[in-house]
Amino acid sequence: MNTASVTVDLAAAPYSIRIAEGSLSEIGTLIGEHTMFSGKKVALVTDSNVGPIYLKTVQEALETAGFQVTPIMVPAGEASKCIEQLDSVCRQMLQAGLDRKSLLVALGGGVIGDLAGFAASIFQRGIPCVQVPTTIVSQVDSSVGGKTGINTPEGKNLLGAFHQPSLVVADTATLASLPEREFNEGFAEIIKHAAIRDEGLLSFVENRAEIRSHLVELMERNVSIKARVVEEDERETSGTRALLNFGHTIGHGIEAAGGYGRFLHGEAISLGLVAAARLSVSHAGLSQAECDRIIAALELYDLPTRLSDDISTESILEAMARDKKFEEGAIRFVLVSSLGQAHVSSSVTGDDIKQSIDRLRLSN
Ligand code: NAD
Ligand code: GLY
Repeated sequence: MNTASVTVDLAAAPYSIRIAEGSLSEIGTLIGEHTMFSGKKVALVTDSNVGPIYLKTVQEALETAGFQVTPIMVPAGEASKCIEQLDSVCRQMLQAGLDRKSLLVALGGGVIGDLAGFAASIFQRGIPCVQVPTTIVSQVDSSVGGKTGINTPEGKNLLGAFHQPSLVVADTATLASLPEREFNEGFAEIIKHAAIRDEGLLSFVENRAEIRSHLVELMERNVSIKARVVEEDERETSGTRALLNFGHTIGHGIEAAGGYGRFLHGEAISLGLVAAARLSVSHAGLSQAECDRIIAALELYDLPTRLSDDISTESILEAMARDKKFEEGAIRFVLVSSLGQAHVSSSVTGDDIKQSIDRLRLSN
């Protein structure tokens, strides 16, 4: 089996990210080998798309290893990152007799990782969580680093907690059942990682024809970037972790202005990356050729790089003003000075952002 392992070396509790094709059926053994968990009861939380395909394999692997499993299914989609589903997951765990010695396994994409991870963080004041990501977004990004949470009508990810997983098991074989659009959207986060930390990763993804044959290496390179950033700045206090927000300031505004149904998360981030790359040319010395390379890589994965006129610049700016990334009204914008080199800048003004959104409507 082509296998990779990356450690997130946090002082409080280091943990492993195991990446392999076909590792879902090994999960019971992996929990025994890589976590300190010694209890028996496990909540296995998944969604209504992932459950019918992968729940049985994971449940059987856990039961074979001696765990008592309570499967919990929530409706697929971003709308499930809400207080009602959080309440439902926690109450199903209580009704099944899970307690503070239990474990939660989150099987699914970023929605399940964020929702179930948050449930684990508050259940009986916190129980361990194993993340089993099944999308590109969740395998390269959301399953690592401990950010968990839900949305409210006021905005995205406004309630949540840092709750690092005890183990991450990424089975690249699960990506075969992802619809093409969801497969492609994950490349926005991958191209972001390349832009801020690893130019070589950009060359790697530029070989699109071969990419599905190299998924374990692709995930390993990405989680290594994420792991190093999280080790440097676990709670996003020193500024290093904020670099992961490259493209997200404007991207989140576009996602919200589109009503969360119009764009997939990665599609909105793609547009945000284009705007941020162009602002990096004007404000941080990124060469036009490097900016064009970022945009071409996004297009290679059929990600949007132009915005249509039916979403107004004002609605995007209004959504951005509500985003918690705008600290007390100040704009802290991530720029890239050359591929692989990023920094947080306060030189980007509201007018610059407005112009960069307007420019997304032009053909080049
Ligand atoms: P998702 O979890 O909604 O998954 C996308 C779709 O694919 C869903 O319909 C899901 O049911 C389906 N699916 C998942 N795995 C599948 C598989 N293997 N085969 C077939 N279908 C499958 O979305 P996502 O893109 O994985 O994650 C987006 C979410 O992650 C957002 O809520 C975002 O805020 C969050 N996020 C969190 C972090 C973090 O650090 N915590 C980072 C990035 C994104
Ligand atoms: N996805 C951004 C972060 O984990 O900080």
